Amino acid sequence: MAVLVTGGAGYIGSHTVAALLEKGEEVVVLDNLQQGHREAVTGGRFYEGDLRDEEVLDRVFRENSIDAVIHFAASSLVGESMKEPGKYYHNNVYGALCLLEAMNRVGVKRIVFSSTAATYGEPDSVPIRETDRTQPTNVYGETKLAMEKMIRWYEVAHEFRFVSLRYFNAAGAHESGRIGEDHRPESHLVPIILQTALGQRSHISVFGEDYPTEDGSCVRDYIHVSDLSDAHILAVERLRRGEDSAIYNLGNGEGFSVKQVIEIARRITGRDIPAVIEARRAGDPAVLVASSDKARAELGWNPHRSNLERIIESAWAWHQSRPQGYND
Ligand code: UFG
Repeated sequence: MAVLVTGGAGYIGSHTVAALLEKGEEVVVLDNLQQGHREAVTGGRFYEGDLRDEEVLDRVFRENSIDAVIHFAASSLVGESMKEPGKYYHNNVYGALCLLEAMNRVGVKRIVFSSTAATYGEPDSVPIRETDRTQPTNVYGETKLAMEKMIRWYEVAHEFRFVSLRYFNAAGAHESGRIGEDHRPESHLVPIILQTALGQRSHISVFGEDYPTEDGSCVRDYIHVSDLSDAHILAVERLRRGEDSAIYNLGNGEGFSVKQVIEIARRITGRDIPAVIEARRAGDPAVLVASSDKARAELGWNPHRSNLERIIESAWAWHQSRPQGYND
């Protein structure tokens, strides 16, 4: 049986496709290539198409024996979501609805969902646990939470089973060096720091140094993208065993400030990486750190690559070998 990976040409999706292939899984990828890169898909059967296109979705299910879906395909920029909420509701919420309907039509009822720490909003306490209240502070997080809830109602009505994975800050690149992070435009901290190290940018802007943290810059929990991929495979296995639906945080449990990340990158790259303090970015919580105890206990997840030095080393290897990212 095959696993369908929607958004499998994106950053986390492509790493998960690679991990599934390494496990000997049969993989089918559906991606509209709006953000993804064809070159990032290292194997499996590829369909270029949009979730909201019923014909394509039905064809994907008809032409393959799919028993589980990993659903990444979504828009994921916090800033953009605040300016274009309609795009996020349409692409994310309506897209997920189309997928669930297509799955229901063919009786495929296992889904692993790519969720986010942005579903929590500003936390009351850290580390954040899955039982904490969800009150998103941006449209992106709001749409991901809506998608999670929608899947839950498909469980009630149609006996779907799901695993929702709430990621903290994904970073790093595959150890093969073949795939890595390449967003256009780039907005994530680690790749921007490394583009600065490569001389492609004059400096890295530190968004705010007046947060209630030790050095005043925001603190995040960085998790290696391949550790995230592992969790998706464990989640598929859990669903295949017929176990209950569940929600898991995926983080490293350790927070690093923006300034600390820059400092570690300076050490690893041996480059200057000029930093300029700027105003806060709208919607940024001061501290986001996960408790991933539940994923470790129930999924048997062991994020062993998520030491920040190792994450940045792997990302640096990718950025040096592919300074312009993918070719497309
Ligand atoms: N930052 C800078 N300068 C930059 C870019 C980022 O100082 O040029 C700071 C941000 O303000 C933030 C931290 O670095 O404090 C990390 O920023 P990212 O944009 O890399 O990541 P976010 O924490 O904003 O968001 C990430 C994902 C979202 C997800 C969120 C959940 O990109 O999709 O984690 O925690 F919703």
